[in-house]
Amino acid sequence: MTRYNDLTKGGGNAVEVRGLVKHYGATKALDGVDLDVREGTILGVLGPNGAGKTTLVRVLATLLRPDAGSARVAGYDVLKQPRQLRRVIGLTGQYASVDEKLSGYENLYMIGRLLDLSRAEARRRAGDLLERFSLTEAAKKPAAQYSGGMRRRLDLAASLTGQPSVLYLDEPTTGLDPRTRNEVWEEVRRMVDEGSTVLLTTQYMEEAEALANELTVIDRGRVVAGGEVNELKAKVGGRTLRIRPADRGELPRMVGALAQAGLDGVGGATIDEAEGVVNVAIISDEQLTAVVGLLGERGFAIAGIDTHLPSLDEVFLAITGQKTSLADADADADADGGADADDRARERAGAAV
Ligand SMILES: Nc1ncnc2c1ncn2[C@@H]1O[C@H](COP(=O)(O)OP(=O)(O)OP(=O)(O)O)[C@@H](O)[C@H]1O
Ligand SMILES: [Mg+2]
Repeated sequence: MTRYNDLTKGGGNAVEVRGLVKHYGATKALDGVDLDVREGTILGVLGPNGAGKTTLVRVLATLLRPDAGSARVAGYDVLKQPRQLRRVIGLTGQYASVDEKLSGYENLYMIGRLLDLSRAEARRRAGDLLERFSLTEAAKKPAAQYSGGMRRRLDLAASLTGQPSVLYLDEPTTGLDPRTRNEVWEEVRRMVDEGSTVLLTTQYMEEAEALANELTVIDRGRVVAGGEVNELKAKVGGRTLRIRPADRGELPRMVGALAQAGLDGVGGATIDEAEGVVNVAIISDEQLTAVVGLLGERGFAIAGIDTHLPSLDEVFLAITGQKTSLADADADADADGGADADDRARERAGAAV
């Protein structure tokens, strides 16, 4: 199978989206989206409910026709070369696409056969993937009996059956427990190590931070910010380190010590009287270590330390100066509850390519 079309060879963009528009009646699901994903990297597309993430993924997976704009993926034009494109992409949708009546093994075998693998190849590939996703023991059980995390892993395995060079992951860990989420993250990293390019949508800043090289933030169908993860983090103030001295009376002295030390890249320290903590803006683990080290050297007794990631709301507030559209989007999402059965069926078929 072709891993990359000639046009994308040599560190170019595996995904190029220009002026993509998709309206549903008055709803502008995509309102002129531009983005690039560099070959061999992970782009995180961050946005609240209803931002247009799934719509974008479905257009790029050839499941949905845009009203305007263009997109190239792995060198293929999404509108003009859908067949070729389907052979080199994988999709793990927001909604599980496994057939519940079939076992994990049968699901993967069937997808392998749909992708024209021989019986022996389909068997081998299913076996390999089940093993890789720790599903060997459950291989013969119907997927209906799988836990949410197992289903998500089976879904991911299904999207890898065709060894895609570009993979779309639509909120791959929403609703998963932290351990399963970490397993999924590990697999995503591994795929990229093996040369895949990933477009990942998420509502979690933490997930974007853990996986993405670059981020695009969208809201109401528009790109509102983008760039390297660190740039974006710096824009929103990165993380807040919260330090609780054993003695509240030490709060001002602690702030003084930090201000005096002027640690590189560490933001101004402020006192939160109500919580009895000092807040310090940091963007790296090195800075965290430096702050804690300094306070230790100066002999402060510390009762507690934690870090606080900006929530998506805070990121939005910082970037757009506006509250997110989370509340309105929820109402929209409800209206969307009935994306017709036809669409779901197509999504399912798409998940297999
Ligand atoms: N089939 C459809 N018919 C009508 N409106 C739709 C349809 N699909 C999506 N929309 C609307 O388009 C907008 C974008 O939806 P989309 O599903 O792309 O958002 P999302 O970012 O994936 O949200 P979520 O985080 O909830 O998955 C929403 O306002 C949604 O209600
Ligand atoms: Mg979605």
